[in-house]
Amino acid sequence: MRLEGKVAVVTGAAKGIGEQITRKFVSEGARVVAVDLTDLTYELEGVSGYHLNITNREDCKKFADYLQETYGQVDILVNNAGITKDALLQKMTDEMWDQVINVNLTGVYNLSKHIAPMMITAGKGSVINIASVVGEFGNIGQSNYAATKAGVYGLTKTWAKEFARKGAAIRVNAISPGYVMTDMMQTVPEKLLEKFAGMTMLGRLGQPEEIANAACFLASDEASYVTGHNLSVNGGMRL
Ligand SMILES: NC(=O)c1ccc[n+]([C@@H]2O[C@H](COP(=O)([O-])OP(=O)(O)OC[C@H]3O[C@@H](n4cnc5c(N)ncnc54)[C@H](O)[C@@H]3O)[C@@H](O)[C@H]2O)c1
Repeated sequence: MRLEGKVAVVTGAAKGIGEQITRKFVSEGARVVAVDLTDLTYELEGVSGYHLNITNREDCKKFADYLQETYGQVDILVNNAGITKDALLQKMTDEMWDQVINVNLTGVYNLSKHIAPMMITAGKGSVINIASVVGEFGNIGQSNYAATKAGVYGLTKTWAKEFARKGAAIRVNAISPGYVMTDMMQTVPEKLLEKFAGMTMLGRLGQPEEIANAACFLASDEASYVTGHNLSVNGGMRL
C-alpha cells in the first residue's frame, strides 16, 4: 500500500488516463477526489466524484475550500484534465486556440494555485502534471496543444523550485505520455495510429494503466528524491 493514508485529487478522472490513475491510487490505499466536468463512468470505494470545470476560477477556489473543510489536507494533485482541438495553423480558429489554452494550461494554473497553499502549509506533497510527447516533439495540427504541454513543463520546473523553498518536501513532476489508447485518440485515423506505434521502440501504443503506474511512483514516497522531472512514458518514441 504505497499511498496509504494519502488524499489525492485527480482531474479529468471520469475516464481514460485519469480514471486509471484514480483506480491505481485507490488500490494503493489513497482516498481520491475524482474531478471532472461529467459524471464518473465507474463507482469505487475510496473515490468521491466532484463536478468541476477547471477553467472556472471561482469554482476552483470553492473546490479548494471544500477540500480543506472535508479532508484538511491534499497530499497528491494530478493535473490530468486535457482536451484537443486540432487543425493546421492556417485553419485553426481563435476559439480552438483559446479553448485548449484555457483547459490544458490555464486550468492547471487555476487549480494548483488554490491547492498548492495547502501543501505548502503542510510542508509536504506531490504534484504531477500530465503533459505529452507532443510538448516535447511537436505535432502537425497541434500548435495549440503542443504550446500548452510545453507550457506545463515550464510550470513544473518553476513550481518544483518555488514549492520546495524553506525545506518543504513538496515535489512537482511531469509525465509525458506517448500515444495512449483512450477516447482522445478516437479522432485519430487508424493509419496515423499505426504510424505512431511504428515510431516507438516497443512497436505499440500505450495503455492508460501504464501512465497510471508512473503516476503512482511519482506520487509515492518511493520518489522522495525526484522533483522537477519530466518522465516520458512513450514506449521509446523517437522523432
Ligand atoms: N491519450 C493520449 O494519447 C495522451 C497522450 C499524451 C497526453 N495525454 C494527456 O493525458 C490527459 C488525459 O487524456 P485522456 O486521453 O485520458 O483524455 P480523455 O478525453 O479520455 O479524458 C479527459 C477527461 O478530462 C475531462 N475534462 C476535459 N475538460 C475539462 C475541464 N475543463 N474540467 C474538468 N475536466 C475536464 C473530460 O471530461 C474527460 O473525462 C490529458 O491531459 C491529455 O492531454 C493523453
